[in-house]
Amino acid sequence: MPWERGARGPDGGPVDQTRAADARLQEAVGLAASIGLVIVHTAILPLRARRPSTLLGEGQVTEQARALAEAGVEVVVVDTALTPVQQRNLERAWSCKVIDRTGLILDIFGERAATREGTLQVELAHLEYQRSRLVRSWTHLERQRGGFGFLGGPGETQIEADRRLIGERLVKLRKELEQVRRTRGLHRSARRRVPFPVIALVGYTNAGKSTLFNAMTGATVVARDQLFATLDPTMRGLVLPSGRRVILSDTVGFISQLPHELVEAFRATLEEVAEADIILHVRDAAHPESMAQRSDVIRVLEDMVHDGTLDAAWPQRTIEVLNKADLLGGVQQVPARPGTVAVSAITGEGLDTLLAAIDHRIGEGMETADYDLPAADGARLAWLYRHGEVVERHDDDGAIHLKVRLLPADRARFERSSPQDLSP
Ligand code: GTP
Repeated sequence: MPWERGARGPDGGPVDQTRAADARLQEAVGLAASIGLVIVHTAILPLRARRPSTLLGEGQVTEQARALAEAGVEVVVVDTALTPVQQRNLERAWSCKVIDRTGLILDIFGERAATREGTLQVELAHLEYQRSRLVRSWTHLERQRGGFGFLGGPGETQIEADRRLIGERLVKLRKELEQVRRTRGLHRSARRRVPFPVIALVGYTNAGKSTLFNAMTGATVVARDQLFATLDPTMRGLVLPSGRRVILSDTVGFISQLPHELVEAFRATLEEVAEADIILHVRDAAHPESMAQRSDVIRVLEDMVHDGTLDAAWPQRTIEVLNKADLLGGVQQVPARPGTVAVSAITGEGLDTLLAAIDHRIGEGMETADYDLPAADGARLAWLYRHGEVVERHDDDGAIHLKVRLLPADRARFERSSPQDLSP
């Protein structure tokens, strides 16, 4: 898996084991909380050996059983992969539901997958995961399909029937996924009709993407017209200080040591990034593994370049946001490099610089074009004012001559459009 790593320090050297375990625990707590679980008990349990039956040692299982009962725990998240047997045995020993790291991450992806491809990819990963855990797959599958009455021919056991149904569903999903991928180009161009620059937030889980998303929304005017009202909840229309309208889009966070069977599903959730005009790579500048996390994110984006999902020029569209500057003594204390902006999403420090940097970067990508419009063409004129910067205007008899700065995509759109395409 491309971004799996052991405990590495900011300089690439080994990191203190306790600190690494703590960071790992914090990440898991953040992930569990992100699907609405309320955390009432956490524990770091050192493993001397992975026991095939329960993973943990006997003493650890008993000790946790007591702690879990005391805290009234209903779901335990074990932050590693469990075999179906281990999962079942732990559920028995602790009398509650147990999910492992893969199950937890699948839930998160399931909630966040926004595109058709993303949803299919996540369902595929989910079913493959369930196939190995057939005993408990039943209820989920039943719920998903709304129940399916009969279960195959006589003599077929429940599990065989489940396996066959899952197998059939997998074949169907793979076909559908192939179809969606073939038409991906079409979807892209449809999406492109959202006529504003898109800014995508990427970064590690816990880097503060959602906090920054909300802070940026709070620091600017939120565009609330019809078009923006149809965006899904991970997107928001904003008006930048220059008056430029943009769409801010949050993505699923990167997760350290992503189970390899989930890599594809995760990448499908990153499709937004390929579409984005500006990528904000949000980093937790105060995290002990901040540099290693940075390389991991870059590696995944580079992998996307290799398979053609992302264009190679993405670094030119990227601003690195060094978040959590408050933990380092303020934005002044964070070493600045070109292409980076230090902020604190919590205190709001540095947000104005970030918004200005985004404005500037979008402006840099603009091209200047000259148009002559008939004076009666109010719709196209209004469109140009809305989407570009009109730098010169000269009206004479019946015609308007304009010099306008536009994003390349908007320019192409304007030039191939008919007046009715451009009605607001
Ligand atoms: P995922 O949704 O899991 O991908 O995480 P995320 O990147 O969206 O992170 P989120 O915004 O949920 O923030 C994670 C934690 O970091 C939360 O406890 C935030 O309160 C905290 N946090 C975010 N930004 C800052 C910051 O600027 N300073 C400090 N001190 N904490 C922050």
